[in-house]
Amino acid sequence: MEKIYRDADVSIKPLEGKTVAVIGYGIQGKAQAANARDSKVKVIIGTRPPEESPSRAQAKADGFEAYSIAEATKRADVLLIELADPAQPPIYKAEIAPNLSPGKTLCFCHGFNVLYGVIQPPKSVNTVLFVPNAPGHFVRQKYLAGEGVYGCVAVDHDATGDAMAIALAVAKAVGSTRAGVVEMSFQHETEGDNFEEQILYGGAIQLMKMCFRVMVENGYPPSFAYAKAIRSLRSVIDVMDEVGIEEYISRRCSRTAEFAIRSRGPRVVNEEAIREIFRETERGEFARDWMQEWSLGMPTLHRLRRTAADSEMEKTGQAWRKDFGR
Ligand SMILES: NC(=O)c1ccc[n+]([C@@H]2O[C@H](COP(=O)([O-])OP(=O)(O)OC[C@H]3O[C@@H](n4cnc5c(N)ncnc54)[C@H](OP(=O)(O)O)[C@@H]3O)[C@@H](O)[C@H]2O)c1
Repeated sequence: MEKIYRDADVSIKPLEGKTVAVIGYGIQGKAQAANARDSKVKVIIGTRPPEESPSRAQAKADGFEAYSIAEATKRADVLLIELADPAQPPIYKAEIAPNLSPGKTLCFCHGFNVLYGVIQPPKSVNTVLFVPNAPGHFVRQKYLAGEGVYGCVAVDHDATGDAMAIALAVAKAVGSTRAGVVEMSFQHETEGDNFEEQILYGGAIQLMKMCFRVMVENGYPPSFAYAKAIRSLRSVIDVMDEVGIEEYISRRCSRTAEFAIRSRGPRVVNEEAIREIFRETERGEFARDWMQEWSLGMPTLHRLRRTAADSEMEKTGQAWRKDFGR
């Protein structure tokens, strides 16, 4: 049975009289800091030194008190860890861990480093998670519109007896309980996220690329293949989200499309490969490969990026946006 929390179920009181430090002022950090401040929470920012990052100056320009990460950790009761995931372990070790004292709360925005033991907080602090299910600009945009972004909360370690209440108060301050927040585990948040990235993003992008490549190889004009491979999908995703996939297939697209979707779609998807990737993710193999890739300086990604940027599809896309609009 899913446990969903909404505004009426959650109090922001666990944050009253407390200082919340947002550590890392990037995509999520900026949005969550602004929303929490607008929810009347005392928010400060912790960033890398000004010579390494423009974030400190940006946070000050946005009206926040901004400090080094070590100083923000000392001043805060609750820390929202909004650093890029691979950057977290060395910064945690050097600046956060030495300045943690009993009763503080570490609130992560992705469970990866805790789940795989790369960061092991002391048992005297709460280790929780709050993740809004959208990029930062959308989290902010929805909040300003009086709405919120669906999210999740989890507790890995409850040192003070009210760790979940604190995680939920953070979710409320950021606006997510306006939509609904589901309780889950660090394991499911992390593995679910990694699974989705591999299957959905990886799979959908590969499908678009293959659709383009096969059409061009068979003599289709590249602009036409590009429009088919990306534009047509873009235009129907919102409709499916609004009315439901079945309504879209049965009533909002052509009968030819319905026949194509129902009869050929399953042939395109390799169900066994999806299940195998799920098992690999559960076994921690994706996490191991990613940590190794990062620690080696991302050689595989550099090579894959170079070849992808030169592809005919990318060049067609650039021309397409200029010639036919965004
Ligand atoms: N982006 C999303 O849509 C999204 C959605 C859900 C959850 N999350 C989670 O939110 C957390 C923050 O993600 P994000 O996307 O907001 O990260 P981000 O904007 O890419 O980076 C956040 C901050 O990390 C620091 N940073 C980035 N690269 C670094 C490097 N190479 N070395 C040292 N520090 C570095 C910078 O800190 P300074 O500000 O100090 O320069 C930066 O502002 C992650 O745990 C992520 O999984 C993100």
